[in-house]
Amino acid sequence: MTAPIYVLRGEKIGLAVPSRELVPLWTEWINDLAVVGHLAILSGGPMTLEAEQRFYDGRADRPNDMLFAVYELATDRPIGSTGIHDVDHRHGRATFGIMIGARDCWNRGYGTEATRLTIDYAFEVLGLHNVLLTVYGYNKRAIRVYEKAGFKVIGRRRAARRIGAKRYDEIYMDVVASEWTSPVARGALGIAED
Ligand SMILES: CC(C)(COP(=O)(O)OP(=O)(O)OC[C@H]1O[C@@H](n2cnc3c(N)ncnc32)[C@H](O)[C@@H]1OP(=O)(O)O)[C@@H](O)C(=O)NCCC(=O)NCCS
Repeated sequence: MTAPIYVLRGEKIGLAVPSRELVPLWTEWINDLAVVGHLAILSGGPMTLEAEQRFYDGRADRPNDMLFAVYELATDRPIGSTGIHDVDHRHGRATFGIMIGARDCWNRGYGTEATRLTIDYAFEVLGLHNVLLTVYGYNKRAIRVYEKAGFKVIGRRRAARRIGAKRYDEIYMDVVASEWTSPVARGALGIAED
């Protein structure tokens, strides 16, 4: 596999350019119920490699969606992805998504750092002001990650997610630039402050 091209490096993980050769790995992850059970795309059924390739190739037509590949820095191993979606420059807002697909990498702090680096890019590089996410009420690990990264709960859509016969709440969380301290991006830009 080609060496990652890093955009932002943290302590344990880096955000890199998403290359097409990662598509088979992503397809594997989004067909893993333990991963996709927490994502909105679950209802779409099994995802084929061809559909995922089309999604990847269609990125040029979605300038308001930005995708990062997440790599473990110590090994240069691809472990997941993050995204800044629905970018609205008029109002300075966007939505956020994350998948650490390599399950053996859960609970090592990678998801928290990947979230922080992506939001750092959204605020410090893109100049956005508000980033929103939705998370299902049963996804306690993700909620913990988002709180650690700086998100706050702003609302709850009750019983709006159904898995089998059960219903769960959808939780809304956001983070704003005025409450943000940049961990990496500000320094990476190399702009001297007046
Ligand atoms: C959610 C996800 C991004 C988290 O990544 P991660 O690398 O495991 O997260 P981290 O290691 O940074 O942090 C996990 C935290 O959750 C905590 N945690 C784990 N399981 C938990 C549970 N059942 N209840 C509460 N907290 C839990 C861990 O203890 C840790 O918190 P701590 O540092 O205070 O101890 C990753 O598991 C993932 O991609 N899951 C599948 C897809 C998904 O859920 N995406 C998000 C959709 S909104």
